[in-house]
Amino acid sequence: MNRNLRKTVIAGNWKMNKTPAEAVKLIEELKVVAENKKNCDIIICVPFVDLPAAVEACKGTDIKVGAQNVHFEKSGAFTGEISADMLLELGVNYVIIGHSERRQYFGETDDTVNLRTKAALEAGLTVILCIGELLNEREDGITAEVLSMQTKKALKGLTAEQMKKVIIAYEPVWAIGTGKTATAQQADEACGIVRDTVASIFDKAVADATTIQYGGSMNAKNAAELLSMENVDGGLIGGASLKAPDFGVIIDAAQ
Ligand code: 13P
Repeated sequence: MNRNLRKTVIAGNWKMNKTPAEAVKLIEELKVVAENKKNCDIIICVPFVDLPAAVEACKGTDIKVGAQNVHFEKSGAFTGEISADMLLELGVNYVIIGHSERRQYFGETDDTVNLRTKAALEAGLTVILCIGELLNEREDGITAEVLSMQTKKALKGLTAEQMKKVIIAYEPVWAIGTGKTATAQQADEACGIVRDTVASIFDKAVADATTIQYGGSMNAKNAAELLSMENVDGGLIGGASLKAPDFGVIIDAAQ
């Protein structure tokens, strides 16, 4: 496996935090820490209502803007939902799909993750696809099976060409927001399993070129070690992405 074949991507998932005005304020701080960091892509995934302000505030910077979900239909009677075309028209080019919080609290399934992924890619968005095992699945020794199955179901029907616009985020559910991080070895091993699965669906070249991030309590202290691993091509960061100095340290660790 050759790390140079793929991009390192540091993405913040703001979750349900920051009003539009607060978002602009944080982006002003992020601009400083994100300046001239050419060795990784930097993305912030903000709440829907913050998107116009975030796109405007990030103009002329290296920070790219993403959403945290997208519906799979183009339009219609889906109260409360947002389509891929709506995001694109705002200047949004990235979207998180299948986050464990959506799976846990909002009925997201592997099938709807697959539908959303296909719709987003067909519209031209780049997808940050989240997968990850629960604590009891890790304790039962079925992490590899779970990751492999989630990956296969999410990527069902995609072409190798479409995989160029898919970033996979391995987020062990037990590490999200808990302060409990996977060890660098656990993260590397799990990202390696995901990469092998991508190779089995497509081929080694596609797998080698796919960015696979780690997410789950990544912070200013542990980022360097996690990001030094062969199979960890970046991070999807929750809590620490809301603090510019900490996010800056993580970006620096990726350089
Ligand atoms: P935390 O970094 O807050 O654990 O969140 C991780 C996450 O869910 C990113 O999508």
